Amino acid sequence: MTRIGIVAEQPGENRVAATPLTVEKIRGLGYDVVVEAGAGGHAALPDDAYRDVGAAVVDTAEAWAADIVLKVNAPTPAEIERLADGATVIALLSPALRPELLEALATRGITALAMDAVPRISRAQSMDVLSSMANISGYRAVVEAANEFGRFFTGQVTAAGKVPPAKVLVAGAGVAGLAAIGAASSLGAVVRATDPRPEVADQVRSIGGTYLPVDVEVEESKDGYAKATSEAYDRRAAEIYSEQAADVDIVITTALIPGRPAPRLITAADVATMKPGSVIVDMAAGQGGNVEGSVAGERVVTAGGVVILGYTDLAGRLPTQASQLYGTNLLNLLKLVTPEKDGQLTLDFDDVVQRAVTVVRDGEITWPPPPVPVSAASTARPDAAPAAPAKERRTLSTGAKSALIAVGIAALFAVCAFAPAPLPQHFLVLTLSIVVGFYVIGNVAHALHTPLMSVTNAISGIIVVGAMVQITVPFLLTQVLAAAAVLLASINVFGGFAVTRRMLAMFTKGDAR
Ligand code: NAI
Repeated sequence: MTRIGIVAEQPGENRVAATPLTVEKIRGLGYDVVVEAGAGGHAALPDDAYRDVGAAVVDTAEAWAADIVLKVNAPTPAEIERLADGATVIALLSPALRPELLEALATRGITALAMDAVPRISRAQSMDVLSSMANISGYRAVVEAANEFGRFFTGQVTAAGKVPPAKVLVAGAGVAGLAAIGAASSLGAVVRATDPRPEVADQVRSIGGTYLPVDVEVEESKDGYAKATSEAYDRRAAEIYSEQAADVDIVITTALIPGRPAPRLITAADVATMKPGSVIVDMAAGQGGNVEGSVAGERVVTAGGVVILGYTDLAGRLPTQASQLYGTNLLNLLKLVTPEKDGQLTLDFDDVVQRAVTVVRDGEITWPPPPVPVSAASTARPDAAPAAPAKERRTLSTGAKSALIAVGIAALFAVCAFAPAPLPQHFLVLTLSIVVGFYVIGNVAHALHTPLMSVTNAISGIIVVGAMVQITVPFLLTQVLAAAAVLLASINVFGGFAVTRRMLAMFTKGDAR
């Protein structure tokens, strides 16, 4: 049986690559699991919790001797020596930045899968460690800022006086930025956010933030990620950051552009205008920093009393949560490479995800993989919606409406001219209802079509009434048809209300019934 080893991380890293919950599921895939003693200790995951789910707790050498080793951070040179011949290691390997690591792994004949090389396509989202860790980091950035900040985030009116809410600026509204906006606004702060991708405006608003647009045209992103911004954009954005710096209490910066150093957004002059006691969390400090004066991994206090946090281990500061999400991402990768659930890891290079994560195979470096088109692009670009498509939509619907009206009028005339009474009268009512219905429903927002349709099912009540009248007719076929009509129309009426109820329940918070 293939053996998987969960090994302890180096000091300073509190996460672990598997939790008891994920170990149980890994065993369900047919693997035998061993855990190095104390591996989950810093994440509040004691050895006994792993034993309870059937894993053996072993010493360091035995854990490293497993066929597959699961880790959070890349193995050190000494750890690579401990791997068994032909073993597989799965961890965060930064393959683009660490060619020497790939060389070392290849020399040992190892197979290495990089969790941070999962392509950012919809199908691979359940394995996307970068997103799950960015989400935790964004949340933790707010917790760190709140810890440093000497006031409430929320506003209060108390007997001891009125307290204004803290003002928070989040620069960059990607995965981490959105998590920070959500956390800060749920603590009661007034949150503003910037991002060169205008499509994030709705996302920012939906979690309680205000989007600050930089009214300068940006090159539309084809892949959902920001491109380097133009000089005109940067100039206007710099003005906004200067205005905001003087006004806000907390700044959290998350701005990154794939393949480039982090853009510099907040200057030392901006920091100097911030009130003493203000806090900046520069989440891009490890990539060069968005804030002048931030130091990767450090807490800096400026002469003006502003605290700048450049922590690069924000996800690791929530080790239990981070281990759970990292472990689940890793479990999902194991499920993909163990299709038969027989404890046999098989790599299928025709699958883009497996191809992308495999950076070394049996001692041969397979990085970089062929490019995978990412699916990060948002289809909804409300604020950036150019005028042309809207106009096109209007022209189309006007054309359709005119054609419908023309056909209706022609049919109406034909029926009135040739049909016997009372058909023309009924037909007139039908035609008018179609026209009125078309205009009414055509003006209801798309998002409301389903509840609208389910409620309009109640119109079937007319059929119920008509069928009940017919049921008294002393003719068996009529009675049977009327009974069937009552039954079917009733299902329609009650079903419509049941659907509406379920839809409304989606907008209700769990316990607020
Ligand atoms: P990221 O880590 O590359 O960048 C962080 C944020 O910084 C981005 O929102 C970017 O627009 C922003 N930024 C760049 N330059 C800036 C500047 N000069 N000023 C202010 N902000 C700036 O991006 P992240 O968070 O990894 O993802 C970006 C988007 O990709 C997400 O919003 C998400 O919708 C999408 N995504 C899709 C995935 C999938 O389909 N599997 C997985 C992950 C993300």
